[in-house]
Amino acid sequence: MRRFHLWKVLCASCLAACVILVTKPQPENICPDPSDPYLQESKPSRQDVRLFDVQEDALAAMPIPYKHLLGSPPSAKRFLSIGISSVKRDKENYLVTTLQSIFSHSSPEELGELVVVVYLANEKFSINTEVAEDLGKNFPSEVAAGQLMVISSYKKAYPTLEGLKRNYNDPDERVKFRSKQNVDYAFLVNFCANLSRFYLMLEDDVTCSMNFFNSIKSYVRDYSSPWTTITFSNLGYIGKLYHNEDLTKLARFLLIFYDEMPCDWLLDLFFKSKAQHEIIRYKPSLFQHIGHFSSFQGNENNLKDKDFMEVMEAFGDHPLASCATSMRAYQDHTPHHVCFPSPDFFWGIDVKADDNFTMTFMNSTNIKQINIITGSSEHPGDTLKSGYVLLGRKKIKANEDVTCESFTKIGEFQNGTFVLDNIDQAVGRSIDCLKIQVMKPQAEWLIIRKVGIWVTREETHPGKSSDIVSVTR
Ligand SMILES: *[C@@H]1O[C@H](CO)[C@@H](O)[C@H](O)[C@H]1NC(C)=O
Ligand SMILES: *[C@@H]1O[C@H](CO)[C@@H](O)[C@H](O)[C@H]1NC(C)=O
Ligand SMILES: *[C@@H]1O[C@H](CO)[C@@H](O)[C@H](O)[C@H]1NC(C)=O
Ligand SMILES: *[C@@H]1O[C@H](CO)[C@@H](O)[C@H](O)[C@H]1NC(C)=O
Repeated sequence: MRRFHLWKVLCASCLAACVILVTKPQPENICPDPSDPYLQESKPSRQDVRLFDVQEDALAAMPIPYKHLLGSPPSAKRFLSIGISSVKRDKENYLVTTLQSIFSHSSPEELGELVVVVYLANEKFSINTEVAEDLGKNFPSEVAAGQLMVISSYKKAYPTLEGLKRNYNDPDERVKFRSKQNVDYAFLVNFCANLSRFYLMLEDDVTCSMNFFNSIKSYVRDYSSPWTTITFSNLGYIGKLYHNEDLTKLARFLLIFYDEMPCDWLLDLFFKSKAQHEIIRYKPSLFQHIGHFSSFQGNENNLKDKDFMEVMEAFGDHPLASCATSMRAYQDHTPHHVCFPSPDFFWGIDVKADDNFTMTFMNSTNIKQINIITGSSEHPGDTLKSGYVLLGRKKIKANEDVTCESFTKIGEFQNGTFVLDNIDQAVGRSIDCLKIQVMKPQAEWLIIRKVGIWVTREETHPGKSSDIVSVTR
């Protein structure tokens, strides 16, 4: 009986409290439900004690056992962590190339803001150790600087990969491969959950565009709506960006459904489950797939991202010019792409000893700095092996082309690039042409990726028609 009365009293006071709350609304205070079994038993102080902490108990990083093979976590959170899961292939391996591309395409400041985590997922542990040793030899300074970590886990931490159901009628081996891959990725992202603000998934056979880091950083900074996944590539599990807070969810998501479907389908379902309707796609793509063989039974996989663009930033002042060359262009990689800033480039085939590539400026230009880059990360061999640069004056018209009458050599290419800063006024004044002269024939084709020209603005001389001497034959 006493209990019954107490219940009445509780109810009455609750109602009173409710009336007060309704007249003086405070959104956080919700009226206790008198039928709630915990309320009936509890003393008032119990209400503050959580019975189960979802944040801590269900969403914190999972205690997956990791083996640290190289490097250690940075002491402070970085802006970006880049995760790569890698399995050694029988044929070509690109992991070192991928890492070189990341490190060589980032400035020292950018490197200070990122950490790359390589998860080695070979079933044989001795292979993981071998690969880690090799990476240690290739990237000692990056490891020392906390920019590269190599980890793995234990076979015993994996769920079973045998006898799984064969969704989509996939063969057993395929089911095993894709299920393991889901677990590999889950273990990788779980590890990275606390390393940075943003996380980027890459694969172990990609190259990066020159300023990928800054492109990502400014895109994220300017993207004002909520988002779960942004992709910086059109392919597979390459270039997918997440908030680090989402990684423990993503890890669980991949583990819960690990044997259902391939990871690239799961990753679509993941952002959809977070109310993002479709993937947010950044163009141009910042990462390119370079592998020819998949890690699945060495199958061929030549997929290329056609939206990949290697050069993105304005480079130099781009004085208006026309470009011409004696070399034959491969497909539509014409000289035009060098004179007009474009993601494309000039690609010459059959490079001979006296070939040249000439830019003719519309107006005479005072040049203070030149930076010419040949080759590309996809075709690192296609640089100019031997050549020099000349500046020309006095425009002349030779048939259809306008070129220059007199040229002065200003320097040679080294390792496929030409850099000249602080060009002397006397040398750089009133320039009408810039010529790249090939010195030796080369077996490799030649990519002229960009010709950066910085001008001294105040003294640009307008081209006078009297400067042009007609040469008619
Ligand atoms: C995350 O990192 C911060 C500092 O980087 C550290 O204080 C914190 O304990 C870490 N949390 C977990 C769950 O590892
Ligand atoms: C470029 O080379 C071709 C072939 O050797 C030559 O005819 C042409 O005059 C050269 N152009 C310039 C600007 O030197
Ligand atoms: C060119 O490359 C070689 C070998 O990698 C290197 O020793 C040299 O310093 C490089 N030269 C320039 C100017 O970058
Ligand atoms: C070339 O010079 C003329 C005359 O000064 C000027 O009107 C024109 O804008 C200049 N063109 C370029 C591309 O700088």
